Amino acid sequence: MYHNPVLLEEAVAGLAIIPEGSYVDATFGGGGHSRAILSQLGAQGRLIAFDQDPEAASNVPEDPRVQFLNHNFRYMQNFLRLHGMLPVDGILADLGVSSHQFDEAARGFSTRMDGPLDMRMNKGSGLTAREVINEYDAERLADILFLFGELRNSRKIARTIEEQRKTTLIETTGQLTEMLLKLAPRGKENQFFARVFQAVRIEVNQELDALKELLSQSVAVLKPGGRLVVISYHSLEDRLVKNYMRAGNFEGTVSKDFYGNPLVPFRPVGKSLAPGPRETAENPRARSARLRIATKTQHPIANNQ
Ligand SMILES: C[S@@+](CC[C@H](N)C(=O)[O-])C[C@H]1O[C@@H](n2cnc3c(N)ncnc32)[C@H](O)[C@@H]1O
Repeated sequence: MYHNPVLLEEAVAGLAIIPEGSYVDATFGGGGHSRAILSQLGAQGRLIAFDQDPEAASNVPEDPRVQFLNHNFRYMQNFLRLHGMLPVDGILADLGVSSHQFDEAARGFSTRMDGPLDMRMNKGSGLTAREVINEYDAERLADILFLFGELRNSRKIARTIEEQRKTTLIETTGQLTEMLLKLAPRGKENQFFARVFQAVRIEVNQELDALKELLSQSVAVLKPGGRLVVISYHSLEDRLVKNYMRAGNFEGTVSKDFYGNPLVPFRPVGKSLAPGPRETAENPRARSARLRIATKTQHPIANNQ
């Protein structure tokens, strides 16, 4: 299976679909969420689906209501303008990597299978994990491991990589895990490598910058009352989503007008949701998922009702 969609019913319900509305699936992948959206759309409804990985295109259904764009969602607003799709009624983003990408050793995402140090979601983009690991100076590497992997021993990891590459190029995921094994806490090797790989992957795909651009553009792209639905898989993403939905900025500071009314572009809908035990038992990759839903306010100031 290409990908088992996470929090499928909850995420699509969060869009509160209007049958004749237009929707964006920013992360098409295997198309699980898109198919559920289509099942609720009428004949005049429209769906624009983005995925930067061309392999996702093979999952696109033959359906005149769907347009697939093999592009990064950080360019969402421009593409929607180009296709005359502005404004839209809802945006869904199910962040991160698909199971298909994880499970293919040649993509270099998996900590368990040996493969080239690649980790690009878009194989046409410039930066690969090989360059990050072999060419970034130790200080920059340590910052990435600390900020994107939340690894406490980031300096030690970076220095170990720097030492090793003086003698040999580090070209495979297997070489990387083997050389770092001595720094992994006993019994927690999997979590340690998951964090190292997460950090490198975020850098390679510039994931946090792309997410910030998607969130910032969503205000201009959505109709008032439109829905923004985001599933994130680690705390760095979730913090950005939470702050943006609450305050309209990434720091989470709510500005107020002269009368003390909050000036916010979104209002969160309900509390954040995580998959239940049944879903995580069936689909362990759902474990770290967190779903947040927000509605665009009618007026920037109308968030105090
Ligand atoms: C978790 S999967 C989505 C799965 C999908 N919801 C489904 O039901 O199959 C994430 C997908 O988003 C894509 N993706 C991640 N970041 C992206 C970005 N910045 N722009 C476009 N696509 C992106 C990945 O290539 C991957 O296919």
